[in-house]
Amino acid sequence: MSQKKKKVVLSGLRPTGSCHLGHLAGALRNWLKFQEEHTCFYSIVTWHAFSSEYKNSKVIKDFTLEVALDWLSIGLGPEKSVVFIQSEVKEHAELHLLLSMVVPLPWLQRVPTFKEMQREIPDKDLNTYGFLGYPVLQTADILIYKANAVPVGEDQAYHLELAREITRRFNRLYGNVFPEPQTILTEIPKLAGTDGRKMSKSFGNSIFLKDSPEIIRQKISPMITDTRRKRRTDPGEPDDCPVFTLHKAFVDKGKREELADECRKAGIGCLECKNVVIESLIELLAPFREKRTEYEKNPKFVWDILEEGNQKARLVAQETMEEVRAAIGL
Ligand code: TRP
Ligand code: SF4
Repeated sequence: MSQKKKKVVLSGLRPTGSCHLGHLAGALRNWLKFQEEHTCFYSIVTWHAFSSEYKNSKVIKDFTLEVALDWLSIGLGPEKSVVFIQSEVKEHAELHLLLSMVVPLPWLQRVPTFKEMQREIPDKDLNTYGFLGYPVLQTADILIYKANAVPVGEDQAYHLELAREITRRFNRLYGNVFPEPQTILTEIPKLAGTDGRKMSKSFGNSIFLKDSPEIIRQKISPMITDTRRKRRTDPGEPDDCPVFTLHKAFVDKGKREELADECRKAGIGCLECKNVVIESLIELLAPFREKRTEYEKNPKFVWDILEEGNQKARLVAQETMEEVRAAIGL
């Protein structure tokens, strides 16, 4: 056990699909590390999924199981951390309501993702009261466990900045109830998806943790590389190559640097270079897939693990809410 003071860590993921490599590199690897030394709460944030999927809400439950299968198979929870379902801990909703009275509207209206998501996903009407309050609900998720640290992908940095601002405002009004949560980002730059854009569920360009070796090969082999390498004899620049973002996250440093050198002097072909990362991924994900297959046979067992997590989370959340109501005077 480490000498450092134990922190409370919270993070969440929306159940809108299976976990992909971007989740693994951007957040889940940090989550695994933290659960070794800190008190961790990892939440499947069903209400956040509902805020954008309200017209297709029946899928949320299936995706909740998908995410739980992914998490348990990579080794998150249940002995080392609390994994739970946000909407099963109703106290989150109460804190969200109370915070919503305190958060000035302009703070939410200027959140970049609010306008961006509406632009990027025009087929969904996201101009709703609930979606505007998305970051307030996220703040409630964090504060209700008095979390000190929140490991997330880079795309969440603004939300976390806002969460801190809301925390300060609450504490100023009602006394020092909550610690200010720190954002923990990974150093890994954004992963490219199979089409060269950022790997994201909404682009349909993801490589999933549960993908088989054949699928991994099929997805990576045709990927675009640095456009300078029109011919095998043209030298390239790995930093401009979408595939190399995968190397940066999943190939060990020595091998990676060797490949980068070879790329720059046209000493290696792209297919050969891709095969290195393909093989690393297949090897990395093999034990995970094996465990997942086991869990898939017994979904009841997985739901039971989640219910145990819900109960543990509830106890903490209820205690915090007692304190919050008293501080406000309700
Ligand atoms: N908004 C986060 C995302 O889209 C998910 C999330 C909800 C979250 N509540 C949270 C992340 C609390 C960290 C802490 O990825
Ligand atoms: Fe990308 Fe590798 Fe091809 Fe270089 S050799 S362009 S890093 S795939």
